[in-house]
Amino acid sequence: MAAPAPLTTLPDPSEAELIASRPHLSRHAMDGLLMDGVPLNAIADALGTPTWVYSVPAMRLRLAELTAALAGLDAHIHYAVKANDHLAVLRLMHDGGAGADVVSGGELLRARAAGIPADHIVFSGVGKTADEIRLALAEGIYQINVESPAELETISAIASAMGRIADIVLRINPDVDAGTHAKITTGKADNKFGVSYTDAAALYAHAATLPGIRPQGLALHIGSQILNMAPYRAAFARAAELIRILRANGQTVTRMDCGGGLGIGYGDEPAANPAAFAGAIRAAFGDMNLTLMIEPGRWLVGPAGVLLASVILTKADERFMVLDAAMNDLIRPAMYDAWHGVVPLAPGNAGPERDIDIVGPVCETGDTFAKGRRMMPVAAGKRVAILDAGAYGAVMSSTYNARPLAAIAMVDNGRWATIRARQPVEALWSAETIPDFTT
Ligand SMILES: Cc1ncc(COP(=O)(O)O)c(C=O)c1O
Repeated sequence: MAAPAPLTTLPDPSEAELIASRPHLSRHAMDGLLMDGVPLNAIADALGTPTWVYSVPAMRLRLAELTAALAGLDAHIHYAVKANDHLAVLRLMHDGGAGADVVSGGELLRARAAGIPADHIVFSGVGKTADEIRLALAEGIYQINVESPAELETISAIASAMGRIADIVLRINPDVDAGTHAKITTGKADNKFGVSYTDAAALYAHAATLPGIRPQGLALHIGSQILNMAPYRAAFARAAELIRILRANGQTVTRMDCGGGLGIGYGDEPAANPAAFAGAIRAAFGDMNLTLMIEPGRWLVGPAGVLLASVILTKADERFMVLDAAMNDLIRPAMYDAWHGVVPLAPGNAGPERDIDIVGPVCETGDTFAKGRRMMPVAAGKRVAILDAGAYGAVMSSTYNARPLAAIAMVDNGRWATIRARQPVEALWSAETIPDFTT
């Protein structure tokens, strides 16, 4: 029997490598870690920690890069609001030419509040309520991405009652494994999303007979943090085949929503390449006379954000570094075993490296940002930045352990502004009442 191949574990990228591959970050001999020319320590001095900081140039650049990759196609970017729903981020996306992909009435209203026109909004999601559907129709959004036969009937009934025709696309489940974390895989047959590929043609034909419905095409979204283009190619090929069948059956198909999911490099894994993604779209749909859409979230904003935290203390001979940020702020390491770079803010953090568990103060062992991270210990009172926290960061925060929502700042070429004040702790119970019968 052949000997098993030795396990090779690549070393984590060094701090210098992490900073060098993120153009909005740099290190200054006196000021320490900078984002777009602003010392992050200055923001932490003013706002305290934990605090999120987002780079405007990084977000703009990424949107421009993705837009350029799609050049020549009738393709529109609908930014997935769920990745980072701050009004300033939504406005920036709108100014850069993107619409919005929303998954709740709240996100729809947020997108509208940020100035995104209703006809630049698409509405996805596996369980839209009647109220949310009514809101979408009243606002006049571009399309609803339908995920089930039951939802189709509900939309038809509501639209008819309102005297409207709803433009819809059918979200198909292409039964493709996106090769990503199980909790963010959405395109396999046993995931809850979309309608089954085999039922889709019949459902589309049925949709065309419903009074309040105008079927316009298909949608798919196979998962998140996808680094490899093969699953996209497989899913797009299935969708293109279905469109050909629908058209051969006499159905009208004018739109294809290709979803989001483009992955980023949290460590030193290569990020998804927008040109390759656009190439896969072009190969599958380029000559089909379709209006194309994509719904990226993470790729546009993930690398553009950091979470600043202070070291409360170190313990067990510096094996544990306890931060004032926790899993309630950034849940990705606890929820998805996600790797995030962690770098000190101050200049000249010198001394021998060791393996450190970087943890938060919440009473859960899962409140761990990094395990056995090789780095120089950062002394109590000093600060670190947790990198690539611009997507699925602040939006997924909770107030577990009665920890208020952190402050958020935004940076743009040497200037910065607070875009969300730290939540006052009293706000945590301000909507609560104590009924008589408990006292
Ligand atoms: C329907 C839909 N579209 C787009 C996205 C955005 O995904 P990502 O942030 O990975 O691009 C998601 C997130 O999972 C989604 O569910």
